[in-house]
Amino acid sequence: MAEANAKASGTFKIGGDLEVNRLGFGAMRITGKGIWGPPEDSAEARRTVKRVPELGINLIDTADSYGPFDSEDILAEALVPYPKGMLIATKGGLTRHGPDIWRPVGRPEYLRQCVLTSLRRLKQERIDLWQLHRIDPKVPRDEQFGVMAELQREGLIRHLGLSEVNVEEIQAAGRFFKVATVQNLYNLVNRQSEAVLDHCAANGIGFIPWFPLAAGSLSAPGGILDTMAKKLSATPSQVALAWVLQRSPVMLPIPGTGKVRHLEENTAAAGIKLSDEDFRALDAQGREAWKKSQQK
Ligand SMILES: NC(=O)c1ccc[n+]([C@@H]2O[C@H](COP(=O)([O-])OP(=O)(O)OC[C@H]3O[C@@H](n4cnc5c(N)ncnc54)[C@H](OP(=O)(O)O)[C@@H]3O)[C@@H](O)[C@H]2O)c1
Repeated sequence: MAEANAKASGTFKIGGDLEVNRLGFGAMRITGKGIWGPPEDSAEARRTVKRVPELGINLIDTADSYGPFDSEDILAEALVPYPKGMLIATKGGLTRHGPDIWRPVGRPEYLRQCVLTSLRRLKQERIDLWQLHRIDPKVPRDEQFGVMAELQREGLIRHLGLSEVNVEEIQAAGRFFKVATVQNLYNLVNRQSEAVLDHCAANGIGFIPWFPLAAGSLSAPGGILDTMAKKLSATPSQVALAWVLQRSPVMLPIPGTGKVRHLEENTAAAGIKLSDEDFRALDAQGREAWKKSQQK
């Protein structure tokens, strides 16, 4: 197989003007267990980040809450001065109280602090894509959307995105600013966001699926992914990712890893083209697995 390059995934213009290769990198896994503190193998995490641009990846997803702060700090340390065209998408609005504990705080003054401190950590003058990590149910959502629009008007943010939202919430935010991206859980066997994905495709909104590599029992030995992977001389994770990429032209997957070997393997998935027949067979089994998981 030719050397892996994210270019093979095609391009998408975030917000209509910032063009990126569709296959990106998720920087949540360059932190400690429970996404808390520094990574166990800090040298490998840094090598992974440095390898990202070499593989043609120019979309990196992070958040101030990853560590907290370690992910943004490592990105800046490893990549500044950023390669031309590199888009770092960050998020704010979640506070951390220990490993695996995430609590939303959507008060406008806190969201403003998130943006100002991400700018400092990332050593940037403007954040190309800032995403509200979660809408805080304790704070009127219009106040959260309002301050986002304000920060954009002030020039601190280029484009705005949302995370874990439904279509109605995207439309509500759209009354305050143009929604450039939506980041929701999505993979072959988790289809709860199909309606959101269709809405994004119809409106030119980038859809950033998190946990894109998951494939549940479909990757078991002898299962459809395993069989297809053997046929394509690929791994089950690569086939799962190739399916996600092929699902929609607005799809911007950000597989996460703290290991160079996994990063290279994931990037090579950009070059895998599934036949229509294989795509449909995977789609059908993925939907079936999702339906079954909902009946349990
Ligand atoms: N908006 C949100 O609420 C939200 C929530 C979660 C995540 N995210 C974002 O989405 C990104 C992706 O999500 P994710 O990291 O949860 O899921 P993922 O990318 O589907 O999977 C990551 C997991 O798979 C492992 N892995 C990666 N590549 C592999 C490979 N080729 N072979 C075997 N194992 C591999 C990683 O461990 P190793 O480090 O050992 O490779 C890690 O444990 C995150 O990095 C983050 O930027 C957003």
